[in-house]
Amino acid sequence: MKEINNIKIYAEETYEDMSARAAEIFCQELKEKPNGIFGFATGSTPIGLYKELIKRYENGEIDFSGITSFNLDEYYPIKKSSDQSYDYFMKDNLFNHINIRPENINIPNGEASDAQQECLRYEEKINSSPGIDLQILGLGENGHIAFNEPSDSFTEMTNYIELTESTISANSRMFDSTDDVPKHALTMGIGTIMNAKKILLLINSERKAKAAKEALFGEVTPECPASILQKHPDVVVVVDKAVADVLDI
Ligand code: GLP
Repeated sequence: MKEINNIKIYAEETYEDMSARAAEIFCQELKEKPNGIFGFATGSTPIGLYKELIKRYENGEIDFSGITSFNLDEYYPIKKSSDQSYDYFMKDNLFNHINIRPENINIPNGEASDAQQECLRYEEKINSSPGIDLQILGLGENGHIAFNEPSDSFTEMTNYIELTESTISANSRMFDSTDDVPKHALTMGIGTIMNAKKILLLINSERKAKAAKEALFGEVTPECPASILQKHPDVVVVVDKAVADVLDI
């Protein structure tokens, strides 16, 4: 483990090693805070971590019955039943396989009739909780976190955003075609994310290396939303070798 720019970075060999390290960090937090509030992320990056958590749950090592979850974001509009929704993703990749209480799961509602109202509701729900103890994050190829896209200012609260062409194109691999990717999303703001007590950022693969370098070692700028994490007091980053090589760590 290295500490650079106030950020702890674990460089692991493979994706599986990265996921196992992340699971260890998550489980440590879960054991210390069995009634804690955990922020979850979607995308291909955390799937290995979620597989590890399911394995440890099945082995009786961990218990999710006391936790509350808040997911980072959701496409808008989207039906929860759509297999491209983040609601579906979380159930399929984690929640259906562990003992989290359904009433303790929070995901922005892609079916809400009023997107702005939904953002307010979601932000209030987070604010009325004791606060997120550990927030898992992935990184977009353009430096985004959750769906906070490069811009000229950092977003504060949960907000309704228009996705950039680059994100639509990056995420189109999960859809039948680029045209099927929703053009908007609901996302925790940068301010919401920065309020989390601890952040666990996972970055793997060559295609993320440039964004990783800018986020961790570049200037803090809303042009690279993840760069704000340099200002958070407790960030742990876990990367694979492809990223570690480019970061030169
Ligand atoms: C999406 C999500 C992000 C995620 C990013 C990276 O746009 N909104 O939360 O971190 O993509 O996805 P992947 O892990 O599939 O590369």
